[in-house]
Amino acid sequence: MKIGIIGSGAMGSGIAQVASTAGHEVIISDTRETALDTSRSKLAKIMNRLIEKGRVDEATATGIQARISYTTDNKDMADCGLVIEAIVENLDIKKQVFKSLEEIVSSDAILASNTSSLSIASIASACERPERVVGIHFFNPAPLMKLVEIIPAIQSDEQVVATARQLIDDWGKTTVLAKDTPGFIVNRVARPFYGEALRILEEGIADVPTIDWAMKTLAGFRMGPFELMDYIGNDVNYTVTETVFKAFWYDPRYKPAFTQKRLSEAGYLGRKTGKGYYEYHENAIRPEPVKDEALGNQIVQRIVAMLINEAADASFLNIASRDDIDLAMTRGVNYPKGLLQWADEIGIAECVARMDALYHEYLEDRYRCSPLLRRMARDGVSFY
Ligand SMILES: NC(=O)c1ccc[n+]([C@@H]2O[C@H](COP(=O)([O-])OP(=O)(O)OC[C@H]3O[C@@H](n4cnc5c(N)ncnc54)[C@H](O)[C@@H]3O)[C@@H](O)[C@H]2O)c1
Repeated sequence: MKIGIIGSGAMGSGIAQVASTAGHEVIISDTRETALDTSRSKLAKIMNRLIEKGRVDEATATGIQARISYTTDNKDMADCGLVIEAIVENLDIKKQVFKSLEEIVSSDAILASNTSSLSIASIASACERPERVVGIHFFNPAPLMKLVEIIPAIQSDEQVVATARQLIDDWGKTTVLAKDTPGFIVNRVARPFYGEALRILEEGIADVPTIDWAMKTLAGFRMGPFELMDYIGNDVNYTVTETVFKAFWYDPRYKPAFTQKRLSEAGYLGRKTGKGYYEYHENAIRPEPVKDEALGNQIVQRIVAMLINEAADASFLNIASRDDIDLAMTRGVNYPKGLLQWADEIGIAECVARMDALYHEYLEDRYRCSPLLRRMARDGVSFY
């Protein structure tokens, strides 16, 4: 099957590489010729690096590049069986693209969006045949990140969803099924990793390096929340939080932090601008954490309790299955453990007690315990 990719930015280029590596003919389109040139030369660099490291041989690398063609005209997508859109995150523009695509591709072609935050139902509504539309959400960088969220819209045909999922599985990815709700699984469940770390910082309980140290050393996360926000970009991370917050009708659980908004406004975006929570120039000095285990454990318990509560609530509202929620966080953002498995290890009653302690301290809806955890504690049951 020939695969069409619309948008040759970071995501489109990565997805094209994945599809071509799996043996498909791929065509990428972009409105900007320069974006296509960049995509082509970046892929060549990646392939050279893989050859140097001995990960692929030259013939394979040449094949991967030769199977991808580049165009500025979506009409060249006429013979594609699946088209994945990865353009700018703007609903009106995406709808226009889907509407026009339908006039080009065959009647049984599947149309997918890689959107991180828009509703698949609203994108599908632009089509004459919305049942052929599905969300296929890759993570950045697409060739390296194992997880792909598959998001059926309420209009999607079951067979379309099954076909799309099977195809992505065949590309060697781990797929999880998520309900068409803001942030799907990962971008919803992960919010407290950033938000609660920022809240702890704003309250003055601990500083940036101490919070990062605690989450890495005591909890086993690969990166601390502030290191990760600097890596993602404070502008990007802030926008995701704000989008999720608004999309949930201003649920205080997702409220963004002024600290991050100001960093973003100041242009302290993180690694890409040389300064964020940390500095990244050549002689930058990393501030030392306060390696106080009692304080570290307090930080970990609070952030992990909030993460578990979010994962439990996603399960409570049937956003995804128990296994998919845990897989999403371990494969999509490399968490050291699935959060629901972690809840079992801590003990469900203890998770409830931690949430209730926060709630009684602050009397904010942000700290409300998921009804699922409370019910499970009452019934003495666990997730696994
Ligand atoms: N960057 C991430 O971490 C990430 C992760 C998962 C999903 N996403 C989603 O993937 C999509 C793309 O994100 P990105 O980071 O690759 O963006 P990007 O800015 O790197 O690339 C977008 C590309 O789309 C092109 N484009 C814009 N309008 C177009 C049109 N009408 N037709 C064809 N091409 C058009 C632009 O010229 C640009 O090259 C967004 O919906 C985003 O939410 C991004």
